[in-house]
Amino acid sequence: MKLEDIKTVGMAGAGSMGAGIAQIAAMAGLQVKVVDMSEEVWGRAKKTIVKSLERVVKKGTITEKEMEETIARISFSTDVASLKDVPFIFEAVFEDINVKKELFNKLDAVCDADTIYATNTSSISITEMAALVKNPANFIGMHFFNPVPVMKLVEVIPALQTAPATKDLALEMAKKIGKTAITCKDTPGFVVNRLFVPYIIDAVRLLEEGVASAEDIDTAMKLGCNMPMGPLEFQDFAGVDIGYHVINIFHEYMKQERFAAPGLLRNMIKAGYVGRKAGRGFYDYSEER
Ligand code: 3HC
Repeated sequence: MKLEDIKTVGMAGAGSMGAGIAQIAAMAGLQVKVVDMSEEVWGRAKKTIVKSLERVVKKGTITEKEMEETIARISFSTDVASLKDVPFIFEAVFEDINVKKELFNKLDAVCDADTIYATNTSSISITEMAALVKNPANFIGMHFFNPVPVMKLVEVIPALQTAPATKDLALEMAKKIGKTAITCKDTPGFVVNRLFVPYIIDAVRLLEEGVASAEDIDTAMKLGCNMPMGPLEFQDFAGVDIGYHVINIFHEYMKQERFAAPGLLRNMIKAGYVGRKAGRGFYDYSEER
């Protein structure tokens, strides 16, 4: 399959990553068919996309007409069968191998063997997932970063079974949708999370140990290392529950105590302090709400 033959892409999963990927693919001129089981999730995805595009219009990168055209290229459905003839499908459903397996079974039942599947997992083995589909040679990892429309990187991760042509196509696709790609082996965390997850864990441990306050830990990394967000602020932004889930998967693969989730994260989830979306995480956002 050649990149120029791909006019439509599929997006399975319309959470924040799925919405972001759908947006950048549509901005690149592709038709995008989004599938998610929940219409409520679509509603949120549409709002996120519109809000994000409005920022791009405000910056003058695209016109209002181009924004409308971009939105018109994105369609939503609850039916996996709507992806039947789509040659290239991104996947960003919940980070759980069983949820992904169920989705790929459904896709395999309607899509032909030429279809490329690009999973946006941040922590599950690409090789393990490739083994679940009917054509593992067409399966690859494409790991995007949050917020997708802003972060320029995508990690391209071939599974052991991935054909070289699939890898080349994924690299071309990354470029088409405006990203800079790096390639890496299928190892836990790939490159970014292998470095980023321990950093996040250690920031929570510093807080647990009372070494410094949340504000001071974040200020230290923002002003001392020029990070755009501090590590605790980032967790509130991305979701403490999502971070905790990723850390646990990472720990399961790495089998090293230094990657174990700090107890504070578990307690915060029990208390419902899962970040900005809940009005409270490491910081209190109740006034903002
Ligand atoms: N859509 C479009 N543009 C957006 C946007 C969005 N959703 N969010 C922000 N922007 C743009 C703004 O318009 C602005 O553009 P400008 O500089 O040209 O005017 C620029 O991004 C900066 O935005 P703001 O001024 O509103 O806010 P900040 O300066 O605080 O930036 C941020 C927000 C881009 C989120 C920044 O804080 C940041 O980069 N944070 C770190 C994010 C990060 O580390 N992500 C990677 C995490 S790891 C990961 O995702 C892997 C996973 O597996 C866990």
